[in-house]
Amino acid sequence: MKFEKNILCIGAGYVGGPTMAIIAYKCPQYKVTIVDINPTRIDAWNSDELPIYEPGLDEIIRATRGKNLFFTTDIQRSIRENDIIFVSVNTPTKTFGAGAGMAADLQYWEKTARQILQYSESSKIVIERSTLPVKTAQAMENILHNAHSSTFEVLSNPEFLAEGTAIKDLENPDRILIGSRETESGLKAREVLVEIYANWIPREKIITSNIWSSELSKITSNAFLAQRISSINAISALCEKTDADITEVARAVGMDRRIGDKYLNSSVGFGGSCFKKDILNLVYLCRQYGLNEVADYWEGVVKINQYQQERFTLNMLKAMFNTLADKKICLFGASFKANTSDTRESPALFITKKLIEEKAEVVITDPQALRNARVDLANIDGKISFIEDPYSAAAGCHAIAVITEWNMYKELDYQKIYDAMVKPAALFDGRNILDHVKCHKMGFNVYPIGKPSLTHF
Ligand SMILES: NC(=O)c1ccc[n+]([C@@H]2O[C@H](COP(=O)([O-])OP(=O)(O)OC[C@H]3O[C@@H](n4cnc5c(N)ncnc54)[C@H](O)[C@@H]3O)[C@@H](O)[C@H]2O)c1
Repeated sequence: MKFEKNILCIGAGYVGGPTMAIIAYKCPQYKVTIVDINPTRIDAWNSDELPIYEPGLDEIIRATRGKNLFFTTDIQRSIRENDIIFVSVNTPTKTFGAGAGMAADLQYWEKTARQILQYSESSKIVIERSTLPVKTAQAMENILHNAHSSTFEVLSNPEFLAEGTAIKDLENPDRILIGSRETESGLKAREVLVEIYANWIPREKIITSNIWSSELSKITSNAFLAQRISSINAISALCEKTDADITEVARAVGMDRRIGDKYLNSSVGFGGSCFKKDILNLVYLCRQYGLNEVADYWEGVVKINQYQQERFTLNMLKAMFNTLADKKICLFGASFKANTSDTRESPALFITKKLIEEKAEVVITDPQALRNARVDLANIDGKISFIEDPYSAAAGCHAIAVITEWNMYKELDYQKIYDAMVKPAALFDGRNILDHVKCHKMGFNVYPIGKPSLTHF
Protein backbone atom coordinates (compact mmCIF):
# COMPACT_ATOMS: atom_id res chain seq x y z
CA MET A 1 0.00 0.00 0.00
CA LYS A 2 1.22 3.50 -0.82
CA PHE A 3 0.91 5.84 2.13
CA GLU A 4 0.29 9.59 1.79
CA LYS A 5 2.99 10.48 4.32
CA ASN A 6 5.81 8.67 6.08
CA ILE A 7 6.16 9.86 9.64
CA LEU A 8 8.90 8.88 12.10
CA CYS A 9 9.16 9.37 15.82
CA ILE A 10 12.53 9.01 17.55
CA GLY A 11 11.99 7.88 21.16
CA ALA A 12 9.42 5.19 22.06
CA GLY A 13 8.64 6.32 25.60
CA TYR A 14 5.60 7.61 27.50
CA VAL A 15 5.21 10.40 24.93
CA GLY A 16 6.46 8.87 21.67
CA GLY A 17 4.48 5.61 21.99
CA PRO A 18 0.99 6.97 22.74
CA THR A 19 1.23 10.08 20.54
CA MET A 20 2.32 8.18 17.46
CA ALA A 21 -0.20 5.43 18.11
CA ILE A 22 -2.94 8.06 18.02
CA ILE A 23 -1.65 9.59 14.77
CA ALA A 24 -1.60 6.11 13.21
CA TYR A 25 -5.10 5.38 14.53
CA LYS A 26 -6.61 8.65 13.35
CA CYS A 27 -4.77 8.74 10.02
CA PRO A 28 -4.73 5.29 8.37
CA GLN A 29 -3.47 7.01 5.21
CA TYR A 30 -0.09 7.70 6.91
CA LYS A 31 2.65 5.23 7.75
CA VAL A 32 4.01 5.86 11.24
CA THR A 33 7.29 4.38 12.48
CA ILE A 34 8.69 4.63 16.00
CA VAL A 35 12.37 4.02 16.57
CA ASP A 36 14.32 3.68 19.81
CA ILE A 37 17.87 2.80 20.81
CA ASN A 38 16.53 0.54 23.55
CA PRO A 39 15.81 -2.90 22.02
CA THR A 40 14.01 -4.17 25.14
CA ARG A 41 11.55 -1.32 24.86
CA ILE A 42 10.95 -1.95 21.18
CA ASP A 43 10.47 -5.69 21.82
CA ALA A 44 7.87 -4.82 24.46
CA TRP A 45 6.03 -2.48 22.07
CA ASN A 46 5.95 -5.36 19.59
CA SER A 47 4.62 -7.81 22.21
CA ASP A 48 1.37 -8.28 24.13
CA GLU A 49 2.88 -6.72 27.24
CA LEU A 50 3.44 -3.06 26.35
CA PRO A 51 6.26 -1.24 28.17
CA ILE A 52 3.86 1.33 29.66
CA TYR A 53 0.36 1.19 31.07
CA GLU A 54 -2.19 3.75 29.88
CA PRO A 55 -5.94 3.19 29.84
CA GLY A 56 -7.07 2.56 26.24
CA LEU A 57 -3.56 2.22 24.82
CA ASP A 58 -3.68 -1.57 24.29
CA GLU A 59 -6.72 -1.29 22.02
CA ILE A 60 -5.18 1.48 19.90
CA ILE A 61 -1.95 -0.47 19.48
CA ARG A 62 -3.83 -3.64 18.56
CA ALA A 63 -5.79 -1.73 15.91
CA THR A 64 -2.74 -0.15 14.24
CA ARG A 65 0.41 -2.20 14.87
CA GLY A 66 1.61 -3.97 11.74
CA LYS A 67 -0.90 -2.03 9.61
CA ASN A 68 0.36 1.55 9.61
CA LEU A 69 2.27 1.62 12.92
CA PHE A 70 5.69 0.02 13.22
CA PHE A 71 8.27 -0.21 16.02
CA THR A 72 11.94 -0.69 15.18
CA THR A 73 15.52 -0.14 16.35
CA ASP A 74 16.80 0.56 12.83
CA ILE A 75 17.60 4.25 13.20
CA GLN A 76 19.57 4.65 9.98
CA ARG A 77 16.87 3.25 7.75
CA SER A 78 14.07 5.01 9.62
CA ILE A 79 15.68 8.41 9.18
CA ARG A 80 16.43 7.74 5.53
CA GLU A 81 12.89 6.67 4.70
CA ASN A 82 10.89 9.34 6.54
CA ASP A 83 10.67 13.03 5.84
CA ILE A 84 8.65 14.13 8.85
CA ILE A 85 10.54 13.34 12.06
CA PHE A 86 9.16 13.85 15.56
CA VAL A 87 11.76 13.75 18.33
CA SER A 88 10.58 12.70 21.79
CA VAL A 89 13.74 11.48 23.45
CA ASN A 90 14.24 11.94 27.17
CA THR A 91 15.57 15.26 28.52
CA PRO A 92 16.19 14.50 32.21
CA THR A 93 17.77 16.81 34.76
CA LYS A 94 21.55 16.91 34.41
CA THR A 95 23.33 14.92 37.10
CA PHE A 96 26.90 16.05 36.40
CA GLY A 97 29.00 19.12 35.61
CA ALA A 98 27.71 22.67 35.23
CA GLY A 99 24.03 22.95 36.08
CA ALA A 100 23.91 19.52 37.77
CA GLY A 101 20.58 19.02 39.54
CA MET A 102 18.98 21.92 37.67
CA ALA A 103 19.62 22.17 33.92
CA ALA A 104 18.20 19.81 31.30
CA ASP A 105 20.58 17.10 30.13
CA LEU A 106 20.49 17.56 26.37
CA GLN A 107 22.88 14.76 25.41
CA TYR A 108 20.16 12.45 24.01
CA TRP A 109 18.67 15.38 22.17
CA GLU A 110 21.96 16.40 20.58
CA LYS A 111 22.86 12.80 19.65
CA THR A 112 19.52 12.55 17.87
CA ALA A 113 20.22 15.76 15.92
CA ARG A 114 23.57 14.33 14.81
CA GLN A 115 21.96 11.04 13.78
CA ILE A 116 19.41 12.90 11.68
CA LEU A 117 22.22 14.82 10.01
CA GLN A 118 24.29 11.67 9.44
CA TYR A 119 21.60 9.46 7.91
CA SER A 120 19.44 11.94 5.99
CA GLU A 121 19.51 11.69 2.24
CA SER A 122 16.70 14.20 1.63
CA SER A 123 15.17 17.29 3.22
CA LYS A 124 13.20 16.83 6.45
CA ILE A 125 10.86 18.55 8.84
CA VAL A 126 12.16 17.91 12.37
CA ILE A 127 9.65 18.39 15.17
CA GLU A 128 10.59 18.90 18.82
CA ARG A 129 8.22 16.91 21.04
CA SER A 130 10.55 16.66 24.01
CA THR A 131 10.30 19.42 26.58
CA LEU A 132 13.31 21.65 26.05
CA PRO A 133 14.82 24.88 27.34
CA VAL A 134 13.79 27.86 25.25
CA LYS A 135 16.21 28.39 22.33
CA THR A 136 17.06 24.68 21.94
CA ALA A 137 15.69 24.68 18.39
CA GLN A 138 18.52 27.02 17.50
CA ALA A 139 21.09 24.41 18.60
CA MET A 140 19.27 21.79 16.51
CA GLU A 141 19.32 24.13 13.51
CA ASN A 142 23.02 24.83 13.99
CA ILE A 143 23.82 21.12 13.91
CA LEU A 144 21.56 20.39 10.94
CA HIS A 145 22.83 23.31 8.90
CA ASN A 146 26.01 21.36 8.30
CA ALA A 147 24.22 19.16 5.75
CA HIS A 148 25.61 19.15 2.21
CA SER A 149 22.47 18.94 0.12
CA SER A 150 19.41 18.41 2.36
CA THR A 151 17.54 21.21 4.10
CA PHE A 152 15.89 20.93 7.50
CA GLU A 153 13.07 22.90 9.03
CA VAL A 154 12.82 22.66 12.82
CA LEU A 155 9.40 23.06 14.47
CA SER A 156 8.43 23.08 18.13
CA ASN A 157 5.32 21.05 18.95
CA PRO A 158 5.31 20.42 22.70
CA GLU A 159 3.22 17.64 24.16
CA PHE A 160 0.74 18.57 26.89
CA LEU A 161 -0.68 15.10 27.63
CA ALA A 162 -0.98 13.90 31.21
CA GLU A 163 0.00 10.34 32.01
CA GLY A 164 -3.00 8.32 33.13
CA THR A 165 -5.28 10.16 30.69
CA ALA A 166 -2.87 10.23 27.72
CA ILE A 167 -5.22 8.63 25.19
CA LYS A 168 -8.12 10.89 26.11
CA ASP A 169 -5.84 13.94 26.06
CA LEU A 170 -4.43 13.01 22.66
CA GLU A 171 -7.83 12.34 21.12
CA ASN A 172 -9.31 15.52 22.49
CA PRO A 173 -6.57 17.96 23.50
CA ASP A 174 -7.22 21.43 24.93
CA ARG A 175 -4.91 22.77 22.22
CA ILE A 176 -2.13 21.80 19.85
CA LEU A 177 0.72 24.29 19.75
CA ILE A 178 3.03 24.53 16.76
CA GLY A 179 5.93 26.98 16.78
CA SER A 180 8.02 27.73 13.73
CA ARG A 181 10.38 30.24 12.24
CA GLU A 182 8.35 32.95 10.57
CA THR A 183 10.13 32.51 7.25
CA GLU A 184 8.49 31.23 4.07
CA SER A 185 9.91 27.72 4.57
CA GLY A 186 9.11 27.78 8.30
CA LEU A 187 5.47 28.68 7.68
CA LYS A 188 5.23 26.01 4.98
CA ALA A 189 6.54 23.32 7.34
CA ARG A 190 4.15 24.52 10.05
CA GLU A 191 1.25 24.05 7.61
CA VAL A 192 2.31 20.42 6.95
CA LEU A 193 2.04 19.68 10.66
CA VAL A 194 -1.26 21.57 11.00
CA GLU A 195 -2.65 19.34 8.22
CA ILE A 196 -1.68 16.17 10.12
CA TYR A 197 -3.46 17.24 13.31
CA ALA A 198 -6.45 18.60 11.41
CA ASN A 199 -7.34 14.97 10.61
CA TRP A 200 -9.06 14.77 14.00
CA ILE A 201 -8.60 18.05 15.85
CA PRO A 202 -10.76 21.13 15.12
CA ARG A 203 -8.72 23.87 13.47
CA GLU A 204 -9.52 26.44 16.17
CA LYS A 205 -7.69 24.26 18.69
CA ILE A 206 -4.52 24.17 16.60
CA ILE A 207 -2.63 27.31 17.49
CA THR A 208 0.63 28.56 16.06
CA SER A 209 3.33 30.85 17.38
CA ASN A 210 6.94 31.74 16.98
CA ILE A 211 9.28 28.91 17.89
CA TRP A 212 10.59 30.40 21.16
CA SER A 213 7.10 31.11 22.51
CA SER A 214 6.21 27.52 21.79
CA GLU A 215 9.23 26.12 23.63
CA LEU A 216 8.64 28.42 26.59
CA SER A 217 4.88 27.73 26.76
CA LYS A 218 5.48 24.09 27.60
CA ILE A 219 7.69 24.64 30.63
CA THR A 220 5.47 27.53 31.71
CA SER A 221 2.39 25.28 31.60
CA ASN A 222 4.05 22.68 33.76
CA ALA A 223 5.31 25.35 36.15
CA PHE A 224 1.77 26.75 36.55
CA LEU A 225 0.24 23.31 37.13
CA ALA A 226 2.85 22.41 39.74
CA GLN A 227 2.46 25.83 41.33
CA ARG A 228 -1.24 25.17 41.97
CA ILE A 229 -0.43 21.89 43.67
CA SER A 230 2.22 23.53 45.84
CA SER A 231 -0.15 26.39 46.65
CA ILE A 232 -2.88 24.13 48.01
CA ASN A 233 -0.33 21.90 49.75
CA ALA A 234 1.24 24.91 51.48
CA ILE A 235 -2.19 25.85 52.82
CA SER A 236 -2.79 22.23 53.93
CA ALA A 237 0.10 22.59 56.40
CA LEU A 238 -1.58 25.67 57.88
CA CYS A 239 -4.92 23.82 58.06
CA GLU A 240 -3.32 21.11 60.18
CA LYS A 241 -2.20 23.75 62.69
CA THR A 242 -5.50 25.59 62.85
CA ASP A 243 -8.26 22.94 62.58
CA ALA A 244 -9.35 24.35 59.23
CA ASP A 245 -10.20 21.70 56.62
CA ILE A 246 -8.35 21.88 53.29
CA THR A 247 -11.25 20.31 51.37
CA GLU A 248 -13.60 23.03 52.62
CA VAL A 249 -11.05 25.76 51.90
CA ALA A 250 -10.35 24.39 48.38
CA ARG A 251 -14.07 24.24 47.60
CA ALA A 252 -14.64 27.83 48.70
CA VAL A 253 -11.58 29.10 46.83
CA GLY A 254 -12.26 27.04 43.70
CA MET A 255 -15.81 28.35 43.30
CA ASP A 256 -14.33 31.71 42.40
CA ARG A 257 -14.42 31.60 38.61
CA ARG A 258 -11.23 33.62 38.38
CA ILE A 259 -9.47 30.78 40.19
CA GLY A 260 -11.39 27.65 39.12
CA ASP A 261 -11.63 24.33 40.92
CA LYS A 262 -9.10 22.19 39.00
CA TYR A 263 -5.86 21.00 40.58
CA LEU A 264 -6.90 21.98 44.08
CA ASN A 265 -6.69 18.56 45.73
CA SER A 266 -4.16 18.62 48.47
CA SER A 267 -1.89 15.58 48.57
CA VAL A 268 1.42 14.09 49.56
CA GLY A 269 2.99 16.11 46.72
CA PHE A 270 3.48 15.90 42.99
CA GLY A 271 5.77 13.41 41.28
CA GLY A 272 6.34 12.35 37.70
CA SER A 273 9.20 12.90 35.34
CA CYS A 274 8.13 16.38 34.26
CA PHE A 275 7.06 18.93 36.88
CA LYS A 276 10.21 19.03 38.99
CA LYS A 277 12.55 18.67 36.03
CA ASP A 278 10.84 21.38 33.99
CA ILE A 279 10.65 23.88 36.85
CA LEU A 280 14.30 23.36 37.74
CA ASN A 281 15.10 23.86 34.11
CA LEU A 282 13.11 27.12 34.17
CA VAL A 283 14.92 28.20 37.33
CA TYR A 284 18.29 27.47 35.71
CA LEU A 285 17.37 29.40 32.59
CA CYS A 286 16.25 32.42 34.61
CA ARG A 287 19.50 32.42 36.58
CA GLN A 288 21.47 32.22 33.35
CA TYR A 289 19.73 35.36 32.17
CA GLY A 290 20.39 37.05 35.53
CA LEU A 291 16.72 36.90 36.57
CA ASN A 292 17.39 35.74 40.13
CA GLU A 293 14.11 36.95 41.63
CA VAL A 294 12.13 35.09 38.99
CA ALA A 295 14.24 31.99 39.58
CA ASP A 296 13.67 32.16 43.36
CA TYR A 297 9.93 32.51 42.85
CA TRP A 298 9.66 29.30 40.80
CA GLU A 299 12.15 27.39 42.90
CA GLY A 300 9.74 27.85 45.81
CA VAL A 301 7.26 25.56 44.04
CA VAL A 302 9.73 22.67 44.14
CA LYS A 303 10.76 23.45 47.71
CA ILE A 304 7.15 23.29 48.94
CA ASN A 305 6.70 19.96 47.19
CA GLN A 306 9.76 18.57 48.93
CA TYR A 307 8.52 19.99 52.22
CA GLN A 308 5.12 18.33 51.78
CA GLN A 309 6.66 14.88 51.31
CA GLU A 310 8.98 15.37 54.29
CA ARG A 311 6.11 16.66 56.40
CA PHE A 312 4.02 13.61 55.53
CA THR A 313 6.76 11.24 56.69
CA LEU A 314 7.43 13.24 59.87
CA ASN A 315 3.70 13.19 60.66
CA MET A 316 3.79 9.40 60.37
CA LEU A 317 6.71 9.23 62.76
CA LYS A 318 5.04 11.55 65.27
CA ALA A 319 1.70 9.73 65.12
CA MET A 320 3.38 6.37 65.70
CA PHE A 321 4.97 7.35 69.03
CA ASN A 322 8.18 8.74 67.49
CA THR A 323 9.60 5.40 66.50
CA LEU A 324 9.11 3.35 63.36
CA ALA A 325 11.86 0.82 64.06
CA ASP A 326 10.63 -2.69 63.19
CA LYS A 327 7.13 -1.42 62.44
CA LYS A 328 5.55 -2.65 59.25
CA ILE A 329 4.08 0.06 57.04
CA CYS A 330 2.08 -0.60 53.91
CA LEU A 331 2.11 1.95 51.06
CA PHE A 332 -1.03 1.93 48.94
CA GLY A 333 0.35 2.97 45.56
CA ALA A 334 3.80 3.22 43.98
CA SER A 335 3.03 5.15 40.78
CA PHE A 336 3.22 8.93 40.92
CA LYS A 337 -0.47 9.21 40.07
CA ALA A 338 -3.38 6.89 39.31
CA ASN A 339 -3.78 5.03 36.00
CA THR A 340 -0.11 4.89 35.10
CA SER A 341 2.71 2.44 35.74
CA ASP A 342 5.20 5.34 35.85
CA THR A 343 7.08 5.69 39.15
CA ARG A 344 9.52 8.41 38.13
CA GLU A 345 9.88 10.92 41.01
CA SER A 346 6.94 9.23 42.74
CA PRO A 347 6.44 10.35 46.36
CA ALA A 348 6.23 6.60 47.13
CA LEU A 349 9.96 6.26 46.44
CA PHE A 350 10.95 9.19 48.63
CA ILE A 351 8.68 8.05 51.47
CA THR A 352 9.95 4.47 51.27
CA LYS A 353 13.55 5.69 51.59
CA LYS A 354 12.65 7.87 54.58
CA LEU A 355 10.80 5.02 56.30
CA ILE A 356 13.72 2.67 55.72
CA GLU A 357 16.05 5.27 57.28
CA GLU A 358 13.78 5.04 60.34
CA LYS A 359 14.32 1.25 60.24
CA ALA A 360 10.70 0.48 59.38
CA GLU A 361 9.71 -2.45 57.18
CA VAL A 362 7.89 -1.30 54.03
CA VAL A 363 5.33 -3.28 52.05
CA ILE A 364 4.35 -1.72 48.72
CA THR A 365 1.22 -2.55 46.79
CA ASP A 366 0.08 -1.16 43.43
CA PRO A 367 -2.06 -2.53 40.59
CA GLN A 368 0.34 -1.53 37.76
CA ALA A 369 3.60 -0.08 39.00
CA LEU A 370 5.30 -2.80 41.06
CA ARG A 371 7.62 -3.80 38.21
CA ASN A 372 9.03 -0.26 38.02
CA ALA A 373 9.09 0.22 41.80
CA ARG A 374 11.16 -2.95 42.22
CA VAL A 375 13.79 -1.58 39.83
CA ASP A 376 13.77 1.90 41.45
CA LEU A 377 14.28 0.51 44.95
CA ALA A 378 16.60 -2.38 44.08
CA ASN A 379 19.63 -0.74 45.70
CA ILE A 380 17.98 0.31 48.94
CA ASP A 381 19.34 -1.53 51.91
CA GLY A 382 16.34 -2.41 54.07
CA LYS A 383 13.25 -4.55 54.34
CA ILE A 384 11.00 -3.79 51.35
CA SER A 385 8.48 -6.18 49.85
CA PHE A 386 6.09 -5.87 46.90
CA ILE A 387 2.65 -7.47 47.06
CA GLU A 388 -0.01 -6.90 44.44
CA ASP A 389 -3.04 -7.81 46.56
CA PRO A 390 -3.74 -4.88 48.95
CA TYR A 391 -5.38 -7.12 51.57
CA SER A 392 -2.35 -9.40 51.84
CA ALA A 393 -0.03 -6.38 51.71
CA ALA A 394 -1.72 -4.66 54.66
CA ALA A 395 -2.13 -7.77 56.80
CA GLY A 396 0.14 -7.65 59.86
CA CYS A 397 1.06 -3.99 59.28
CA HIS A 398 0.99 -1.20 61.89
CA ALA A 399 0.01 1.45 59.36
CA ILE A 400 -1.23 2.10 55.86
CA ALA A 401 -0.26 5.19 53.88
CA VAL A 402 -2.31 5.98 50.78
CA ILE A 403 0.16 7.45 48.30
CA THR A 404 -1.60 7.06 44.93
CA GLU A 405 -5.24 7.93 44.23
CA TRP A 406 -6.11 4.66 42.45
CA ASN A 407 -9.90 4.25 42.39
CA MET A 408 -9.63 0.70 43.68
CA TYR A 409 -8.35 2.00 47.04
CA LYS A 410 -11.65 3.80 47.59
CA GLU A 411 -13.57 0.57 47.18
CA LEU A 412 -11.68 -1.82 49.47
CA ASP A 413 -13.23 -3.45 52.54
CA TYR A 414 -11.41 -1.45 55.22
CA GLN A 415 -13.04 -3.36 58.06
CA LYS A 416 -11.44 -6.54 56.71
CA ILE A 417 -8.12 -4.71 56.34
CA TYR A 418 -8.32 -3.25 59.87
CA ASP A 419 -9.09 -6.63 61.40
CA ALA A 420 -5.89 -8.12 59.97
CA MET A 421 -3.59 -5.26 61.13
CA VAL A 422 -1.53 -4.74 64.30
CA LYS A 423 -3.33 -2.42 66.77
CA PRO A 424 -3.44 0.49 67.16
CA ALA A 425 -3.73 0.65 63.38
CA ALA A 426 -2.93 3.95 61.66
CA LEU A 427 -4.25 5.16 58.33
CA PHE A 428 -2.42 8.06 56.65
CA ASP A 429 -4.44 9.26 53.70
CA GLY A 430 -1.94 11.09 51.48
CA ARG A 431 -4.64 11.76 48.88
CA ASN A 432 -7.72 12.40 51.03
CA ILE A 433 -9.68 9.81 49.06
CA LEU A 434 -11.09 7.64 51.86
CA ASP A 435 -14.14 8.06 54.08
CA HIS A 436 -12.25 9.17 57.18
CA VAL A 437 -15.17 9.12 59.61
CA LYS A 438 -16.13 5.60 58.54
CA CYS A 439 -12.57 4.32 58.87
CA HIS A 440 -12.27 5.97 62.28
CA LYS A 441 -15.44 4.23 63.43
CA MET A 442 -13.96 0.90 62.36
CA GLY A 443 -11.08 1.50 64.75
CA PHE A 444 -8.38 3.17 62.66
CA ASN A 445 -6.52 6.26 63.85
CA VAL A 446 -6.93 8.37 60.73
CA TYR A 447 -4.50 11.08 59.59
CA PRO A 448 -5.67 12.94 56.48
CA ILE A 449 -3.80 15.79 54.79
CA GLY A 450 -4.82 19.30 55.80
CA LYS A 451 -7.60 18.38 58.20
CA PRO A 452 -7.90 17.34 61.81
CA SER A 453 -6.84 13.78 62.55
CA LEU A 454 -9.38 11.31 63.98
CA THR A 455 -7.80 9.26 66.74
CA HIS A 456 -8.92 7.05 69.61
CA PHE A 457 -6.55 8.59 72.15
N1 LIG B 1 5.98 11.70 30.28
C1 LIG B 1 5.15 12.72 30.11
O1 LIG B 1 4.04 12.76 30.64
C2 LIG B 1 5.55 13.88 29.22
C3 LIG B 1 4.56 14.78 28.81
C4 LIG B 1 4.93 15.82 27.98
C5 LIG B 1 6.24 15.95 27.57
N2 LIG B 1 7.19 15.07 27.99
C6 LIG B 1 8.57 15.23 27.48
O2 LIG B 1 8.75 14.31 26.41
C7 LIG B 1 10.11 13.82 26.40
C8 LIG B 1 10.11 12.31 26.47
O3 LIG B 1 9.51 11.92 27.71
P1 LIG B 1 9.12 10.40 28.00
O4 LIG B 1 8.40 10.41 29.29
O5 LIG B 1 8.48 9.82 26.79
O6 LIG B 1 10.60 9.78 28.17
P2 LIG B 1 11.02 8.25 28.11
O7 LIG B 1 12.30 8.15 28.85
O8 LIG B 1 9.87 7.38 28.49
O9 LIG B 1 11.30 7.98 26.55
C9 LIG B 1 12.37 8.49 25.83
C10 LIG B 1 12.89 7.41 24.90
O10 LIG B 1 13.86 7.98 24.03
C11 LIG B 1 14.82 6.97 23.73
N3 LIG B 1 16.03 7.57 23.17
C12 LIG B 1 16.96 8.35 23.78
N4 LIG B 1 17.92 8.70 22.90
C13 LIG B 1 17.60 8.16 21.72
C14 LIG B 1 18.20 8.17 20.42
N5 LIG B 1 19.31 8.84 20.19
N6 LIG B 1 17.61 7.49 19.43
C15 LIG B 1 16.46 6.79 19.65
N7 LIG B 1 15.85 6.74 20.85
C16 LIG B 1 16.40 7.42 21.88
C17 LIG B 1 15.02 6.29 25.07
O11 LIG B 1 15.60 5.00 24.91
C18 LIG B 1 13.59 6.25 25.61
O12 LIG B 1 12.93 5.03 25.31
C19 LIG B 1 10.80 14.50 27.57
O13 LIG B 1 11.44 15.65 27.10
C20 LIG B 1 9.65 14.89 28.48
O14 LIG B 1 9.95 16.01 29.28
C21 LIG B 1 6.86 14.02 28.78
